[in-house]
Amino acid sequence: MHYDFDREVDRKNTAATKWDALEQRFGDKDLFPMWIADMDFVCPAPVLEAMKARVDHGVFGYNTKPDSYFQAIIDWMQTRHQWSVQKDWICHSPGVVPALSFTVSTFTEPGDKVIIQQPVYPPFASVVKNNGRELVNNPLVLKDGRYCMDFDDLKSKLDSRVKLLILCSPHNPVGRVWTRDELVQLGELCREHNVLVVSDEIHFDAVFDGHTHVPFASISEAFADRSIICTAPSKTFNLAGLQTSVVIIPNEELRAKFKKTLGGYDLDSLNTFGLVALESAYRHGAEWLDQLLVYLQENLRFLQEYLGEHAPQLTVIQPEGTYLVWVDCRALGLDAKELEQFMLKQAKVAVNQGYTFGPGGEGFVRLNIACSRKLLETGLERIVKAVKAAEVGQGSR
Ligand SMILES: Cc1ncc(COP(=O)(O)O)c(C=O)c1O
Repeated sequence: MHYDFDREVDRKNTAATKWDALEQRFGDKDLFPMWIADMDFVCPAPVLEAMKARVDHGVFGYNTKPDSYFQAIIDWMQTRHQWSVQKDWICHSPGVVPALSFTVSTFTEPGDKVIIQQPVYPPFASVVKNNGRELVNNPLVLKDGRYCMDFDDLKSKLDSRVKLLILCSPHNPVGRVWTRDELVQLGELCREHNVLVVSDEIHFDAVFDGHTHVPFASISEAFADRSIICTAPSKTFNLAGLQTSVVIIPNEELRAKFKKTLGGYDLDSLNTFGLVALESAYRHGAEWLDQLLVYLQENLRFLQEYLGEHAPQLTVIQPEGTYLVWVDCRALGLDAKELEQFMLKQAKVAVNQGYTFGPGGEGFVRLNIACSRKLLETGLERIVKAVKAAEVGQGSR
């Protein structure tokens, strides 16, 4: 089956955060949205069919988790990620961010330290702070246009109060798909210091040609024993609104603790549509995903060529995965707040501002390319027009 990713669906007035929260979030409903991390694409046809059939059934009472649900997850991990997951290891969470927060509250005590690698998805910092834990940043380093982990810095920060590290793999916003070597280095350091690794792998299916995602827990039994993997079909198949995610915990003791926390809030049951969508997506969504990845890479090429030609001051950090593009705008000579105003008032686009991702993010913006090429071009045109106008303004000073 051929999927048409050029096909546009009007998402306005569907309570879509990306399109309908512009005024509330940015104070201007006429901005062009290039922010937040969901897609403007219709999800795979088999998922829609399964959900329609479920609607037709008409009864939406409480759900149990059937064997077929577990098997769909196990098969996806095996075929897409060469990772053998056992049924017992699989836990549910109504979202990956809630899962991160539960891991922080369950596996650390107030005052303990938690390491993250900024610039990173903003909730990484807030789940640590909101739980009253001490945030420690092991900043990523931008070297020759590519972000790397700083293992010397990490080593120097791994004291006895550090209990947990939250890894973003693949990394939002810098687009790195960490190599096995990098993950092994990180994992060995954490193991030596008895630090639990919580690996957020929600973007694990959006990996571009030439790169391979390595699930952290698949590397060795020792890593599996000291890690918690949080993922979901939500980013992959555009199902974020169904709030259904998967937490994989090979270690029995850690799993029991996590389940106790979840049980304490009575959050272990699945949403009917989340259950149906997860199962059908993992069973029948691969063909759609393969075509999506081709389209996303073409969008990326389009963005790179377009900005390269019309706004070479903006430097695109080459993503290896995810549908988010991290753009270095520092050559515009604006500070973080000025850049924010520039995007809002001059370019009239809603983007994620780099400074919100923590130290190192200032002067960058994150653009979402998971939309039709035409919509992408509309957003880029606005940015380019504003950059050119600013140049003329500077020149005439
Ligand atoms: C790294 C990362 N983790 C988690 C999430 C959100 O997960 P959820 O909606 O399941 O809470 C996102 C969404 O952008 C993300 O990029």
